[in-house]
Amino acid sequence: MEATRCLREEHQVILRVLGCFEIALREAREADAVDLATFEKFVEFFRGFADRCHHCKEEDRLFPVLVSAGIPKEGGPIGCMLAEHEQARAYVASIAERLEPAAGGDAAAIQFVLDQGELYLDLLRAHIAKEDNILFNMADGVLDGPAVEGLARAYGEEQAAPEYCRNLERCRAVAGELADRYGVGAP
Ligand SMILES: [Fe+2]
Ligand SMILES: [Fe+2]
Repeated sequence: MEATRCLREEHQVILRVLGCFEIALREAREADAVDLATFEKFVEFFRGFADRCHHCKEEDRLFPVLVSAGIPKEGGPIGCMLAEHEQARAYVASIAERLEPAAGGDAAAIQFVLDQGELYLDLLRAHIAKEDNILFNMADGVLDGPAVEGLARAYGEEQAAPEYCRNLERCRAVAGELADRYGVGAP
C-alpha cells in the first residue's frame, strides 16, 4: 500500500477539483460564456498539480520502478497511462490556447474550450479510476520493501525542493478556493 499511498491521496485532491470543474463547465454552457479568471485557475491547477506534481511523479518515479519489476510498458497498462497523460496535457494546452478568445465572446472558441474541458474531465476521471483500481493494486502487489522505501525517498527528495513546495502551496490554495466556491467536498 505504501508505494502508492501518496499518489492515491493526490488523486483525491485532483478529483475534488474535477468536481468543481464539472460545475464550472455546466455553468459556462448555461451562460454561453467563459470567465477568464475562473478558467485560468483550473488551468493553473491542472498544469501545476495534476501534471507537474502528480503525473511527473508517476512518470519519473513509479512507472520506471514498475517496469523494472516486470510490468510491461509498451502495449501494457503503463503505456496506456503514459498515453493518457499526453492526451490530458494536450487538452489543457488547447483550453489555455483558446481561453482569451472564448472569454472575449468568440462563440467557436467558447464551444471549443467547453468541449475540450469535458473531454479532459472524462479522461482524467477514468484515468484515475484505472490507476486506483488496477495499476496501483498491481504496483502494491509487485513492489517489495526496498523498492517501496526507494520510492518514498525519491518522493521525499522531490517534495523538498523549494520550487516544488512553492508550486504545491499555490496549487493547494487554488484547490481550496475552488472547493469553497463550488461547495465541493472531498470525494
Ligand atoms: Fe496517471
Ligand atoms: Fe495518477
